[in-house]
Amino acid sequence: MQSHVKPLEWRSAEGLLLLDQRILPHREEWVTCRTAGEVASAIREMVVRGAPAIGVSAAYGLALEAGSSTGDGLSSRIRAAAVELRSTRPTAVNLQWALDRMLQLIESHEGNDSELSGKLIAEAEAIHAEDLEANHRIGRYGAELLSQRATILTHCNAGALATSGYGTALGVIRAACEAGKSIAVFADETRPFLQGSRLTAWELQKDGIDVTLITDSMAGHFFQKKQFDAVIVGADRIARNGDAANKIGTYTVAVLAHTHGVPFYVAAPMSTIDPSCASGADIPIEERSSAEVTHASGSGVDGQLHTISFAPAGVEARHPAFDVTPAALITAIITDRGIARAPYDESIAKLLAAPVV
Ligand code: MRU
Repeated sequence: MQSHVKPLEWRSAEGLLLLDQRILPHREEWVTCRTAGEVASAIREMVVRGAPAIGVSAAYGLALEAGSSTGDGLSSRIRAAAVELRSTRPTAVNLQWALDRMLQLIESHEGNDSELSGKLIAEAEAIHAEDLEANHRIGRYGAELLSQRATILTHCNAGALATSGYGTALGVIRAACEAGKSIAVFADETRPFLQGSRLTAWELQKDGIDVTLITDSMAGHFFQKKQFDAVIVGADRIARNGDAANKIGTYTVAVLAHTHGVPFYVAAPMSTIDPSCASGADIPIEERSSAEVTHASGSGVDGQLHTISFAPAGVEARHPAFDVTPAALITAIITDRGIARAPYDESIAKLLAAPVV
């Protein structure tokens, strides 16, 4: 089952088109980025979000920079653009991974500027295509873990919108549906940015997959009622020991799953594993504006963008955007190279060393 949803599109004559995720689900509008700076702003402002989609967008951002500026110092301008892109979202390692891969190309380049530009576009397109392929592989591995009939809880959006167009956690669900399994999804709304209600519910509904929306605070109740057969979430960065950073609230869901004996799966491409992090303690946690906690903004049914406040003016608020789920709470990590299980330092090392097929 291909998803009907895609978050981004490269058009050589126009630039990088991003589906504006800030105004979903009520409006589907595309933002065109023509420079690396515009891509950096779009990532910072959450026009595009989700670790793999951010990585792919940043790669195209560097390709745009190469195409829009020529002459002396091109490679140093591209490096400066990479610094700006790198600073936009600190937790999602796919961003760093994609930029490093693009920069390696510059290091090894020996031809002229227009050849460099062509190579960077081709590399960004390869990163884009490989991510989509990785999603399908994750889906196939993960679908085997689910029984013929299952209800799955997911948190945040690790779907087509967060990747190149199929999803990691939602890719497993799509692949299970393709395999003829009867899958129902419960989506946490995922406060404060509401990726679950605005994005996951929208994309599953669009693809005809059974989805029920709940608030984050209802998850415990439904665990008690034995509603869930498994939890599947994505990840923004996975340490060598299997600790996994994902959207704030994921850790709470993992504790609940552990308490209730429900399998808790993390689905992510190999580009989400950061070999430089020994444990979750090394993963930087992005702190976003507290205004996203005290206020909510989105497109109303009238199609206009609205911001409303539901907290007393001036109240102190915090917004860590991610948390770390310790490996001990994770039943398995589903990657595009296979499934890792505890002890994760061994299984992850094996996957990292495995030849890419
Ligand atoms: O802040 P966001 O919306 O970029 O956070 C996204 C998540 O936490 C996703 O679960 C994660 O990036 C995996 S996406 C396949």
